Amino acid sequence: MTKPTKTYSTPAHRGLWSSRLAFILAATGSSVGLGNIWKFPYVTGENGGGAFVLVYLLCIAIIGIPIMMAEVFIGRNGRHNPITSFRLVAARNLVSPAWRVSAIVGVLAAFIILSFYSMIGGWAASYVGHAAMGDFSGQTAEAIGELFSALLASPVTLLIWHSVFMVLVIFVVARGLKSGLERAVTILMPALFGLLLIAAAYAATTGHFGEAVSFLFTPDFSVLTMDGVLIALGHAFFTLSLGMAVMMAYGSYLGDDISIGRTAVTVSIMDTVVALMAGLAIFPVVFANGLEPSAGPGLIFETLPLAFGQMPMGILFGTLFFVLLVFAAWTSAISLLEPVVEWLEDKLIFGRVGSTVVVGLGCWALGIVSILSMNLWSGFAPLGMFERFEGQTIFGLLDFFTANVMLPLSGLLTAVFVGWFVAKESLVKDLALKGPTFTLWYNLIRYATPVAVAVVFAYNLMA
Ligand code: PHE
Repeated sequence: MTKPTKTYSTPAHRGLWSSRLAFILAATGSSVGLGNIWKFPYVTGENGGGAFVLVYLLCIAIIGIPIMMAEVFIGRNGRHNPITSFRLVAARNLVSPAWRVSAIVGVLAAFIILSFYSMIGGWAASYVGHAAMGDFSGQTAEAIGELFSALLASPVTLLIWHSVFMVLVIFVVARGLKSGLERAVTILMPALFGLLLIAAAYAATTGHFGEAVSFLFTPDFSVLTMDGVLIALGHAFFTLSLGMAVMMAYGSYLGDDISIGRTAVTVSIMDTVVALMAGLAIFPVVFANGLEPSAGPGLIFETLPLAFGQMPMGILFGTLFFVLLVFAAWTSAISLLEPVVEWLEDKLIFGRVGSTVVVGLGCWALGIVSILSMNLWSGFAPLGMFERFEGQTIFGLLDFFTANVMLPLSGLLTAVFVGWFVAKESLVKDLALKGPTFTLWYNLIRYATPVAVAVVFAYNLMA
């Protein structure tokens, strides 16, 4: 049965972003993260460049943007934490409150992802120190690889940096919407764009910029595999922060007069531009130093430092680069904490600060599992009896399960719910898209998006 909506009057602690720009900066801050600067370049490298980039762009357009609009819509329409918002929107449309399972999965995923995202944010923070101290200068590839393995092998060092990173995140979120999140993104995002421009400008001087451009933009479909297509789709989800209730949480603070459609498109374009710029900043350096673009996850922590250690002013650029990475990870991490905190806060047991500390400590504690699975527990592979998970540490399993099960599940349910069960008039009004654009979105969210996500979902589980 549907619940009476009057018990859900907007809680007093709730505020709104002070402008459309504030929301755009926050949502872009969420979406621009390790995914853009660490993961995008290396998955592009591993999957052969141009053709992969093209598929990725298509996935953003056909799946990412429509789902982002749907998530922001639910948040703003419900004006509560993602789970309650989902329930309210369901009630208003006279469908079962059980649909909120989509948001429950999302909030849980956010919690789990933050636990290991913070560990990786900690790696980046520790590399700011290495870069600034000149630890890369004149080093061999082995010595630099050694630095990275030594970091992963030390539970204490990892724990320290994980804790530092988590404290930064808790600090911002505890201060609330305006003086916490909004202030942080208005300082960090312009800084991030500035640093990225400097990095790309520097890359342009290496003499290998053209090579990077053709690597990224000349599609060669003969090197694109089916796996590559699926990775592109999964990455589109991750990079836009979808399926984790984040855009619902941020959307719940969005003013009523703002067009969700235009705003979501702006955020997605900014995210894509940053990913491409990161590629343009990184690959020239890779090519200039005769390094391998397909180096994998170590591209940023092993390959690039090697280059920084050899280039003129490498200490300066290396430090700037890792500061950039920390900023990007930080604004993403606060957006992962927000939906969970918002949920606990709406329960009215603890205030803002209390809720943030409780959730933050929980995430921090769970993060210790990932830290230990890098070293002391690295031999412990719980699902080793299934061939597919052989050798997967607990960290590997958390990563796999969130990225390949929870996010697509939450995204799929949201797309079906909004596309098929929400009254069209309220979508027309809230998205505020022009006629044909609305029709395009409506068809995408009803047909193309769910089908594409379902296919990937099924393939990922079976493969
Ligand atoms: N979008 C972020 C990135 O690209 C990751 C992220 C996912 C952040 C979900 C918040 C929520 O790194």
